[in-house]
Amino acid sequence: MPNDYLASLLAGVPMPLMLVGANERILRLNPAAVSLFGANMEGRHFYTVLRQPAVVECVSGAFNSGMPRESRFSRKDHTHESIFRVICAPVGSGRDAAVLASFEDVTPVETAGQMRRDFVANVSHELRTPLTAILGFIETLRGPARDDAEARERFLSTMAREAERMNRLISDLLSLSRVETEERVRPTELQVLPEIVLSVCHGLRPIADDAGVEIRVGPAPDLPMVRGDADQLRQVFTNIIENAVKYGGEGDRVEISFATIQRDPILAGPAVAVAVQDFGRGIDSIHIHRLTERFYRADSHRSQKLGGTGLGLAIVKHIMNRHRGRLKIESDVGKGSRFTALFPQPRS
Ligand SMILES: Nc1ncnc2c1ncn2[C@@H]1O[C@H](COP(=O)(O)OP(=O)(O)O)[C@@H](O)[C@H]1O
Ligand SMILES: [Mg+2]
Repeated sequence: MPNDYLASLLAGVPMPLMLVGANERILRLNPAAVSLFGANMEGRHFYTVLRQPAVVECVSGAFNSGMPRESRFSRKDHTHESIFRVICAPVGSGRDAAVLASFEDVTPVETAGQMRRDFVANVSHELRTPLTAILGFIETLRGPARDDAEARERFLSTMAREAERMNRLISDLLSLSRVETEERVRPTELQVLPEIVLSVCHGLRPIADDAGVEIRVGPAPDLPMVRGDADQLRQVFTNIIENAVKYGGEGDRVEISFATIQRDPILAGPAVAVAVQDFGRGIDSIHIHRLTERFYRADSHRSQKLGGTGLGLAIVKHIMNRHRGRLKIESDVGKGSRFTALFPQPRS
């Protein structure tokens, strides 16, 4: 087979390919492999380029056995690690015997698998804590507290609280999975944001009164409507405003304001903004970019005590994605935090 035909054939394959000859030297790399391993590698011993024992073993194994072999190759640069599935296939025979090693980038699959494992571990941990408490109280009620009516009442109310925590966790998990399923379906109905916000504030009144926090809603003259799913928008504002009351409540008030923005740099167009400002203790900047991760809490003791699931802002992020909007979080430690939901203005 002419050499340039072979070269163009290998160049047509998008994944990195390395052809190793029987003398253990690299015969050819296609362009994808050149970007992975560098230029001018032809003629070098393959193990000086591959270097990882499992992969070297894989190439030699394919030569010696005449059968395909599989292995993994990992590559770290300063920002992230990539993982490749390597298949070494014997090709040709006699003097032309060679091994073709192909490198399939499986990093996204590996990352998704790791995320799934972390998620299951987190959920199990979150459920186990209240469950352990409930089991402990059942033991106590059966034994030492059996005839103590006053203790029984106290334990039962703690058990009810723990059971409610599990209930909240399950409903948040269900909303998260529902929102994720619908994430690619764009909402079509036009919604009036101030109306939704007012109804949410009305619903949160009891919690705000208990915490001694006044919720002030600013004016919204001529605010454009946005395309949205009313239930999901209600959930966005409930989660953000409830957080402002719960975690920023020292400030005695929460202010909600509306604005029309000519051009949002990230949405790359005109936007409608709803900002929820509290005057509490604020959030340290090291936490801010992680707050929308599932189960991430800036102050986990406080969140647990207030019955948080750690999923509220993760749900908000997914809903905002579905609406092609974004959540902006700003905070000044000691002064308060501001959570702004930005929606693209609908094209008329
Ligand atoms: N307004 C706020 N002020 C201070 N911290 C906040 C505020 N909103 C959210 N947080 C922090 O972000 C974390 C994640 O919020 P969220 O996802 O709603 O979970 P949860 O409220 O269930 O703990 C909270 O645990 C809290 O530490
Ligand atoms: Mg919350």
